[in-house]
Amino acid sequence: MSVDRSRSLKANRSRKVLLIDDDASLRRVTEYSLQSAGFHVLSTADGREGLAAFLTESPQVVITDIQMPGMSGYEVLQQIKAERPETLVIVITAFSSVEKAVEAMKQGAYDYLAKPFSRDELVLVVNKAFNLLGLQEENQRLRDELEHQVDFDHMVGISDVMQNVFDVVRRVAPTEARVLITGESGTGKELIARAIHQGGGRSKEPFVAINCAAIPATLLESELFGHVRGAFTGAVRDRAGKFEQADGGTLFLDEIGEMPIELQPKLLRVLQEMEVEPLGGKSRSVNVRIIAATNQDVDSALEEGRFREDLYYRLNVIPIELPSLRERVEDIPLLVTHFLKRYSSASPVGISESALESMAAYSWPGNVRELQNAVERMVILNHGEMLDFHHLPAKIISTSSSSRSQIVELPPEGYPLEMIEKEVVVQALERNDWNQTRAAAFLQVPRHTLIYRMEKYDIKKP
Ligand SMILES: Nc1ncnc2c1ncn2[C@@H]1O[C@H](COP(=O)(O)OP(=O)(O)OP(=O)(O)O)[C@@H](O)[C@H]1O
Ligand SMILES: [Mg+2]
Repeated sequence: MSVDRSRSLKANRSRKVLLIDDDASLRRVTEYSLQSAGFHVLSTADGREGLAAFLTESPQVVITDIQMPGMSGYEVLQQIKAERPETLVIVITAFSSVEKAVEAMKQGAYDYLAKPFSRDELVLVVNKAFNLLGLQEENQRLRDELEHQVDFDHMVGISDVMQNVFDVVRRVAPTEARVLITGESGTGKELIARAIHQGGGRSKEPFVAINCAAIPATLLESELFGHVRGAFTGAVRDRAGKFEQADGGTLFLDEIGEMPIELQPKLLRVLQEMEVEPLGGKSRSVNVRIIAATNQDVDSALEEGRFREDLYYRLNVIPIELPSLRERVEDIPLLVTHFLKRYSSASPVGISESALESMAAYSWPGNVRELQNAVERMVILNHGEMLDFHHLPAKIISTSSSSRSQIVELPPEGYPLEMIEKEVVVQALERNDWNQTRAAAFLQVPRHTLIYRMEKYDIKKP
């Protein structure tokens, strides 16, 4: 059997119709018509039997006669709607009693068939019902997809390295896999952790972050696992730890590389058993997804014994390595514009080409956070003005190659270094009224170095 054929058979089998009718001959004809149209039909002779089949077989569509001995079609309709309101019920009425059909529709029937009906009429109405169900399902699927779509609205990155990161995030988000995010400070580790949480099935549950480096070792245990009243001096009431606060959702263990070594075995146990034991209390089970992050060099932490290997493997199921900004220079202009928009949203501020070039050439040791802060500062300090090279933070200007080329512009055919040196010394002395102490300070050299150059090039006050 080919794959396609088996798939289409399966699709038909899943189009399940329950038929309830006390009229045996009509039932047989209807059953045959539906089966030949590819539906999977369950047929029963009365309401009670029909409801039992409904509960065990869960058909999406039910066709029921209204007038039956015992349980009427109305009753069947009501019970089905109460049990599974999404079921579509088609009622069969006698030709002469359309008002009964209207009554059934009021009670929630999807459509009706008036006796006698043709095979075409029957198949048409049942097909219509399944089409509607298909649309509803598709809508639901699209809604689910939208809800679980990873939100990169706040994340910028066109570089291949960042696109790769986004791909991995999209793939791991809907899973329960643990993720370890590594990267220098300010590269966006927390943003990625949030995107993973947002894109998974736990997005409506809490995202709880704890910075293991910011909390003194003595407090970290109770922060993570909680404590009960009286567990230690100062524990005046029960307190749920971060694991319990994140129950059902995601716990983000930030700066995990700073986790005190003495606490690591306990964390390892919790990660293995997913049970936390609050200080002084009984253990209880928790259901949390773990995402961890570190800006430490994990390999050396492992080698130096500051981080337990077993814990590392528990956390590092899916590694995500965030590249530094230096390794994705092509993202810099995009990030600058992104933050400019954010910080000058009322009246957007522009930036000159040369300023942007210098920003792209800077090494950004603090990565995206440093860039973000720099843009915010520039916008605040130069209110409303177009940002230019001289608005850049001093650090960027002093390391920029364009600032160098502005000071000394070399002719293409070359130029003797000694002439440049002489010119520089003369200019420095002129600027400082031939005061040697100030001229030396201006050139950032000791005074004797300046005097040596003056003698070497025979420079004298005119
Ligand atoms: N790709 C990006 N697009 C837009 N903003 C970003 C991006 N990456 C980081 N940011 C922003 O930069 C700042 C730092 O990001 P985040 O806090 O996630 O970094 P981190 O790696 O956790 O830093 P640290 O190690 O210092 O805690 C945040 O304000 C974040 O919104
Ligand atoms: Mg962080």
